[in-house]
Amino acid sequence: MEEEKRKKLHHCGAQNIPRFTISWCLLLSIFAVPACARAFDYADALTKSLLYFESQRSGRLPYNQRVTWRDHSGLTDGLEQGVDLVGGYYDAGDHVKFGLPMAFTVTMLSWGVTEYRQQIAVAGELEHAMEAIKWGTDYFIKAHTSPNVLWAEVGDGDTDHYCWQRPEDMTTSRQAYKIDKDNPGSDLAGETAAAMAAASMVFKQTNPHYSHLLLHHAQQLFEFGDEYRGKYDASVEEVKSYYASVSGYMDELLWAALWLYKATDKEEYLRYVVDKADSFGGIGWAITEFSWEVKYAGLQVIASKLLAEKKHKEHAHVLEQYRSKAEYYICSCLDKNINGSNVERTPGGLLYVRQWNNMQYVSTAAFLLTVYSDFLQSSSQKLRCHGGMVGHEEILDFAKSQIDYILGSNPMNMSYLVGYGSNYPTRVHHRAASIVSYRESKGFIGCTQGYDYWYSRLKPNPNVLVGALVGGPDLQDDFVDRRSNYMQTEACTYNTAPLVGVLAKLLQLQDQNLDQNPTSPLLASY
Ligand SMILES: *[C@@H]1O[C@H](CO)[C@@H](O)[C@H](O)[C@H]1NC(C)=O
Ligand SMILES: *[C@@H]1O[C@H](CO)[C@@H](O)[C@H](O)[C@H]1NC(C)=O
Repeated sequence: MEEEKRKKLHHCGAQNIPRFTISWCLLLSIFAVPACARAFDYADALTKSLLYFESQRSGRLPYNQRVTWRDHSGLTDGLEQGVDLVGGYYDAGDHVKFGLPMAFTVTMLSWGVTEYRQQIAVAGELEHAMEAIKWGTDYFIKAHTSPNVLWAEVGDGDTDHYCWQRPEDMTTSRQAYKIDKDNPGSDLAGETAAAMAAASMVFKQTNPHYSHLLLHHAQQLFEFGDEYRGKYDASVEEVKSYYASVSGYMDELLWAALWLYKATDKEEYLRYVVDKADSFGGIGWAITEFSWEVKYAGLQVIASKLLAEKKHKEHAHVLEQYRSKAEYYICSCLDKNINGSNVERTPGGLLYVRQWNNMQYVSTAAFLLTVYSDFLQSSSQKLRCHGGMVGHEEILDFAKSQIDYILGSNPMNMSYLVGYGSNYPTRVHHRAASIVSYRESKGFIGCTQGYDYWYSRLKPNPNVLVGALVGGPDLQDDFVDRRSNYMQTEACTYNTAPLVGVLAKLLQLQDQNLDQNPTSPLLASY
């Protein structure tokens, strides 16, 4: 049914109506509008972004698995510890299951669906989006074995990185690590609670029993994280060189409480967010990045949105302070902070936070900008930056510019979303994608054999990691498509997750513009 709707609308995807392209280009050159090649197929990008999560699956793959170069893996995870930890996601190009980034991935996918459910459904992708979320939450349910125990990681980064193997052949340690009362991890418990609360909203209508179960786990995990305070990387030191919790756990506790408030409407959670706003840094930290590690900007955006509802009037004073920090973040992305910092940009216009996997910050920024733009539009407000007032269109336009850069509107003419368009990274730093598919060739490939033969090969990867958003270019827009260049060519689940909602929003906009004005040259910009 949704598939049908999508097919009907699909003609609207600008790249599917080439007969108009010539006249647009002509018109565009008459009016000196740059590059007619700017119309992107957001429907295709959306479909591909969701496909990516199937490549990252660990565990027993289902009959309807679409990424067929993958097969079952990690089927004994947890066995040594006497707990079933089969399933979940590999975070990137290796085979460790890291709890914190996995939970953030699921939170962002779920947030995308709660904001843009309708648009994702019209694109025919709602089921895939829900499957991607459920693959994560099914695992969290298993990993949360009792109220105050949560399994934090399976495998360890150090031994894993000695090997270049397919997940199906994996011979590395599958040691599992947990947090509990004596070894707390409020950041991990908080983020997992946020993920499960957000996901409970996604499944509320279609699968109320599952939704309720998720909420139950989320509430317990939040209580556990709040009662037994501590950073998870002090309890599970193995994560330190990979996903250290530098910003601490206070952002995750506020974040979890806010998601629980959204999911349950229970005043106690809102009170937590309000009462601890100051002491937990919620209204103190003006920050210019949003990631698996630092949740403040996301928290501040959601808190700002509560201001629009009358029932939150009594908390307006604190919520306004959250909002002022949210605006600081949005203004910094728009380069409109005068008395504060702005996010750097490359000459090609890409937001630039840091060298290693910069794209994660671009996709989270695009998501927050899009959500904030919608909020301003629906409440008829403008953004107040020191550099001036900004309308919702300008914010969305900027978010779109970041997505378009990702999809190919950049100095390298390269799509950083793998498998999209004709020019994309072909040597993604990813063990499974870079080695012949297990389904094609079942002969065991050992640890160093993988390095010697497959990793060091100059040829493109045999399997295309469709929908992966790689680390991306450097501060000069340069990108080197080499497998050993992991800062640029590795992709992570939390890079792609925020894209899902933004792509759905841009697709809707494109469809609306085409419906309203099917011959306008201005369409080319949407
Ligand atoms: C920036 O800070 C200076 C010094 O604190 C202040 O005088 C000025 O009004 C501020 N400008 C804006 C636009 O807020
Ligand atoms: C990208 O495309 C533009 C326009 O077609 C061209 O001028 C430029 O040389 C291309 N850049 C690269 C790195 O291929």
